[in-house]
Amino acid sequence: MRLVIIGPPGAGKGTQAKFIQGQFGIPQISTGDILRKAASDHTVLGDKASVFVQAGKLVPDDLTLDMVTERLSADDCTKEGYILDGFPRTVPQAKGLETWLKGLGSQLDRVLYLNVPEEALIQRLAGRRTCRGCGTLYHLVFEPPRKPGICDDCRRELYQREDDRGNIITARLETYKAQTVPLIKFYRERGLLTEIDGVERAGKVKDQVFESLV
Ligand code: AP5
Repeated sequence: MRLVIIGPPGAGKGTQAKFIQGQFGIPQISTGDILRKAASDHTVLGDKASVFVQAGKLVPDDLTLDMVTERLSADDCTKEGYILDGFPRTVPQAKGLETWLKGLGSQLDRVLYLNVPEEALIQRLAGRRTCRGCGTLYHLVFEPPRKPGICDDCRRELYQREDDRGNIITARLETYKAQTVPLIKFYRERGLLTEIDGVERAGKVKDQVFESLV
């Protein structure tokens, strides 16, 4: 299965991609996670990218496309497929991916679009906490850890993402509207898009997602 999950910041893409990975055994490829790791390792890519990430803007298309196609060429993806979380997020990225896949005689199977209104997004982003060790996602209200600030699974510390604060959230939402919303039409026209109502609690959204994939 070659899947893409799109939606605004905080829609639950990472949450649902992890469920899909667990259920269908395909790797989750999160461009946000790859870029954050590159930034914390101070690689050339990471240093270039963090300027854009911290401003709530998108990293240039050529950098992300190279990064993704390299990752998709790895054995786990060529054998099992993948769920792309956070890529593509511009029409040029989508066209680049389509051309790259065509060159391999391949194509996407499905694009899931998580639709969530803006008020809910701000609350989800502001309350998100992530485990430094295993990356498990929590929310202070909707998915709190058993012990505040500590991961239930690996006992490491939880942290708040730098870009989940104040005006960076606003900038990310504006970037989404200007640059990613056109992808909905792009994939709908190709007959690949399945729209999911992402407002319900995560477990209920998961049921809709799984139903759409069988
Ligand atoms: P990225 O990390 O991809 O961020 P994003 O798209 O803004 O999405 P988020 O990770 O914030 O949210 P999500 O939809 O995954 O929600 P989650 O499941 O975590 O990208 C970060 C930055 O990297 C970008 O701004 C850009 O600069 C750069 N970048 C990345 N990809 C790029 C690309 N392709 N091109 C260029 N630049 C790129 O859930 C959020 C919270 O809500 C959690 O706390 C969760 O527990 C909770 N939650 C989830 N579902 C529910 C639910 N149903 N009900 C209640 N709470 C819920």
